[in-house]
Formats: sequence, C-alpha cells, structure tokens
Amino acid sequence: MAKDKSIYTCTECGGTSARWMGKCPSCNAWNTLIEGSAEPAAGKNRFGSVHASLAPTSEVLPLSQIEAADFERHPTGIDELDRVLGGGMVEGGVVLIGGDPGIGKSTLLLQAVDALQRSGMNTLYVTGEESGAQVAMRSRRLGLPDSLVPVLPEIQLEKILHTLQSRQPNIAIIDSIQTVYSDQLTSAPGSVAQVRECAAHLTRTAKSTGTTIVLVGHVTKEGALAGPRVLEHMVDTVLYFEGDTHSNFRLIRAIKNRFGAVNEIGVFAMTEKGLKGVSNPSAIFLSQHTEPVPGSCVMVTLEGSRPLLVEIQALVDSGGPSPRRLSVGLERDRLAMLLAVLHRHAGVACMDQDVFVNAVGGVHIREPAADLAVMLAITSSLRGKPLPKGFIAFGEVGLAGEVRPAPRGQDRLKEAAKLGFKVAVVPKANAPKKNDKSFEGLTIYPVDRIEEAMQVVRGLD
Ligand code: TYD
Ligand code: MG
Repeated sequence: MAKDKSIYTCTECGGTSARWMGKCPSCNAWNTLIEGSAEPAAGKNRFGSVHASLAPTSEVLPLSQIEAADFERHPTGIDELDRVLGGGMVEGGVVLIGGDPGIGKSTLLLQAVDALQRSGMNTLYVTGEESGAQVAMRSRRLGLPDSLVPVLPEIQLEKILHTLQSRQPNIAIIDSIQTVYSDQLTSAPGSVAQVRECAAHLTRTAKSTGTTIVLVGHVTKEGALAGPRVLEHMVDTVLYFEGDTHSNFRLIRAIKNRFGAVNEIGVFAMTEKGLKGVSNPSAIFLSQHTEPVPGSCVMVTLEGSRPLLVEIQALVDSGGPSPRRLSVGLERDRLAMLLAVLHRHAGVACMDQDVFVNAVGGVHIREPAADLAVMLAITSSLRGKPLPKGFIAFGEVGLAGEVRPAPRGQDRLKEAAKLGFKVAVVPKANAPKKNDKSFEGLTIYPVDRIEEAMQVVRGLD
C-alpha cells in the first residue's frame, strides 16, 4: 500500500521531521511537531497550478549586459512611512510589517492604502482578522468615510490569489498572513507550514505580476514573527513596529530592506484620528522633570539618519542575596558588563544592589553609544545626586574602561545644542574643534576613560 507522505513541522522553529516525535529534532522543544503534508500531490508542481514560472526563458548573462532598471516606487504620501521604506512601496516588492497586537498595523496600512487609492492607484485590502464592517468602521474613525479602497474579507489563499490575478492591483495588503490558509496543506491555519507556504505563493505573485504586497505579521510573545522568522528571508523589506502601547508614540524600524537603508526609523503619534507622523521627533523620549532627579541621564542616539534624544533612567536599590539586574529597552547582558566595568575601573560597586535601567518611552536602544549614559545614570542613582540640568552624555565603554567614539558624534552634539542642552560628556574623538561655533551654549567635556567621566560629573556637583 502506498503510504501517504506526510511531514511534521515544528511550530517553534519551523524544523521538519519525517515522523512524529515528542521532541523537535532541531530545537529540542517538546510537543511542538504537528502534521502537515508539505509534499506536493504526485505529479503536481506546487507553484505550477497558479503561476507561470518567474522567467520562462532565463538565459545566463554577464551582469554588465543585464539592464539595471530602476525600481518603480509608489510613495504613500505618509512621509514617515516612506522614509523607512526608502522612498515608497516598490513595484513587485514584498513588505512584512510586524508588531504586537493593537500597536497600529492595520491603522497605518489603511491610511497608506487609502492615500494610494486617492492618488489613482489600484489597491486591495484583504482582511482576515476583521470583517468588512470593522474595517469600514476604522475608516470612518480615521476620517475617511468616502474611502474607495476595495476590501476583500477572505482567508483562503487560492481565492485571494484569484482576486489578485483578476484585479491586478498595484498594492495589496494581506492583514494578516497568519489568518491565511491554503487548501493544499492539511496543517492548521497559522501553523508554520501554512504561513510559510502562503507567503511563498504571495511573494511569487508579487514578483510575477508587479503587485506590491504588504504582509501583516503578528509578533508572538517571544518576539519573533509567528511562523518564527520563516518569513523574514522571503520578503524584500521587514518593518517592525515598536513602542509602548501605553504611550502614544510608535516607531517603525526597517530591519531589512532590499530597496533602501536599514535601521531607518519612522516616528508616529497615535491620535484619535489614526497615526500622525512626527517629523521632528528628537525630544519626545524625554520625561518631563521640572528639576533634575537622581538616576536620570539623557543621551543622543542615532536612528538611521536622525539623532534622537532619549532619557535613560536607572534605579539602584538594596537587593536581597541575589540582586536583580533588569533592563527595559536596553540590552541586559550589556548591563551586567557595564556594572563590572564600573566596579573595576571607577570603583563604583553595586554588587549587593538591585539595578534597574530603562529607556523612557518604549524605545529600544541597540547601539553601544548608550553605555556612558547608562553608567552615569546608575552612579547618579547610587549617590542619590542628580546630574546637572541640561546634561547629556554618549559613548561606548569598553572592558578596559576606555570611552570609545560613537558614529557621527558631531551630529549628535549639534542636536543637543539645538535643543538647549548645556553640558555634554562625550568621547574625546567626538569632541569638536575648539573654534567650532555650531555648538554654542554647550560646554563639552571630552573624556578618554570612564574614571575621567566620573571625575567630570563630580566636579559639576
Ligand atoms: P490597530 O491598527 O487595530 O492595531 P493592529 O492592527 O496592530 O493590531 O490599532 C488598534 C489600536 O489603535 C486600538 O487600541 C485603538 C487605537 N486607535 C486609535 O487610538 N486611534 C485611531 O484612530 C485608531 C483607528 C485606532
Ligand atoms: Mg490589525
């Protein structure tokens, strides 16, 4: 008897196995393998039924003879979104937008697609999570009651592909990829096999028809896009929404972009009428203290091409036998390292203390230039002494206690000077020349080592 060829896919890592096992052979998670026949039915090409091949008569050609056509871009008119996309949606490009539930993915995409529709493009909004009525309600709320965006409430891949083929829209939104399922697979909607397969079909459609496809993906609690990361390599652009759902500000970060720069960010404020771009975001991540408080230090971080001022807060408090180290918006491993450097090179000991650090406003700072500000905030909290009013610091701190320069330090200093900051402690290599007038009003203390930075701060008490 011919045995049905089924395959088991892990819901955690996407690894596969030919037989069922209690433990995933790839990631060792328990009870995560689920059945789903990823094998094509005999004699049938998985893609063949729906698509023509990408380029039927592919020839081998030297690069110099291949025409490098510039990508056709469709700006959405939402500047902050266009900035992260690298100038707009690219024809035939596939964009994945990830983020926590409720952060504003559907809101932003509806705003974008409506603007594109108004500019004369053909769009399509496929909704699998909400009914057409719910999407209509959102459009009313956004002040777009006369929106002409065509909406298709559908979750079956084959029907979606059929609509894409027949309508040939310029831009299609799939909200969300986790709700889409294909009849060809037996595994449940939302499973890794389904998400991967559906995204692959949609990507092919985008490439062969020139439709830009935007996939909405939910981030699971582990932080990876469900269908854990399986989509990132398939698509051209990956954007993540960041931000605290309790604050109004949202960041969109490009973490992969085949058509533009990565690490560019777009900043939005969630208002009653949807997301509004914040064109000058530099100071929104500062909390409003009327007088300086201990444990707070402002740094200038660089996000893509723009400097942002962010407040780093630290709280050092006597801990139990195994003191805690906790960081929000900053890397925890780095915190442990900085505490060791602080002890060894600056004589500041927090061994028996709980240490909490936080980047205000729900931003994630991934660059090491935050080191100096983190260390100064910790020391300030430990001493119970605030840093002076209008104080900023940035710079990477190495294991030997040296303070290393941050990229584009002068741009950071200019931004701080522009916003009225008075005192800056920065790496020596970032300090401007003596006679440079663009930092007027800002007293700059260049330092080489962490001890030096501590001395400067004590001298300012
Ligand atoms: P939504 O776009 O549905 O999030 P996602 O698609 O990422 O899950 O956004 C939902 C939140 O945004 C919801 O809590 C309500 C809020 N919101 C506003 O504050 N103003 C608005 O104009 C809209 C449409 C939503
Ligand atoms: Mg949504």
